[in-house]
Amino acid sequence: MRVVVALGGNALAPPGLEQAETQRSAARHAAEAIAGIAREHDVVVTHGNGPQVGLLAAQAEAAGQGVPLDVLGAESEGLIGYLLEQELANALPGRDVAALLTQVEVAPDDPAFAHPTKPIGPLLDAAGAERLRARGLAVGPDRGGFRRLVASPAPREIVELRTIQLLVRIGVVVVCSGGGGIPVVRDARGAHHGASAVIDKDRSAVLLGIGIAAGALLLLTDVPAVYADWPETKQAIRRASPRALAARPFAPGTMGPKVEAACRFVRGTGGFACIGAVGDAARLLAGEAGTRIESGASGIELWEPAR
Ligand SMILES: Nc1ncnc2c1ncn2[C@@H]1O[C@H](COP(=O)(O)OP(=O)(O)O)[C@@H](O)[C@H]1O
Ligand SMILES: [Mg+2]
Repeated sequence: MRVVVALGGNALAPPGLEQAETQRSAARHAAEAIAGIAREHDVVVTHGNGPQVGLLAAQAEAAGQGVPLDVLGAESEGLIGYLLEQELANALPGRDVAALLTQVEVAPDDPAFAHPTKPIGPLLDAAGAERLRARGLAVGPDRGGFRRLVASPAPREIVELRTIQLLVRIGVVVVCSGGGGIPVVRDARGAHHGASAVIDKDRSAVLLGIGIAAGALLLLTDVPAVYADWPETKQAIRRASPRALAARPFAPGTMGPKVEAACRFVRGTGGFACIGAVGDAARLLAGEAGTRIESGASGIELWEPAR
């Protein structure tokens, strides 16, 4: 079976992100979990980049450099892609692994460009937020402080999809579409240009899953499952149909996009999707942990007793 594994930016960025060794050990932990699946399935890995692209943006600012968001996206994709490529190859001796810088087309007139919603980078205090505002950047409240907000347009097409399909067909473990892919727009002559945005990796993962005809989409993050009625309870959902999940509200910007991606993938492919912890990757696929979204589920089934 073909499996798309989408790694959360937060799961790849524990506290201490500035330290190269912290990023490396998070990548190793993820790679070891993914290797358990890649021994039996054709795996394509994608990942988020929110914390990393924010850190690169802050570093560029501190150095007095104005680096456009598409270039920062490419830098973060290269940085994370390199670590995952190397750690996956170390965990899968004899297998070919390749990270691919991936561009993803967005519409130049996507309304998201006028309404930045995606938080990136570190939590800021009021003074830090004001410094960004003074430079014309969008800032919004987040977890008691503030964070920079950037546009998050809808992904429409993966530019390198045929190359990805080719690599999968010959057995390569591909790392691609990192950070949701580098956002690009196409002009009237068909030429691509970078766009100032960060695409949601959960939404790009659906395009990827449909594009390679995957049977399963694993959305790996920093919680063990989707909780019903979060944050009031931590009652984990075991199995759910897309219809039952879509009827419930989920937090925008975090679990909301994951649930939406899972439902769209299941409806678009007939395959199943799982949401859960990075370390549980193989158990998620086997239905032994986390939340599985599939058409055959009857409504919402919970893990009992509460986990
Ligand atoms: N219903 C829910 N069940 C579980 N976690 C939830 C729920 N609603 C919101 N969350 C939050 O979503 C987070 C995961 O999403 P996010 O932070 O975007 O991670 P990622 O970097 O993996 O995309 C969790 O850490 C949790 O705080
Ligand atoms: Mg997220």
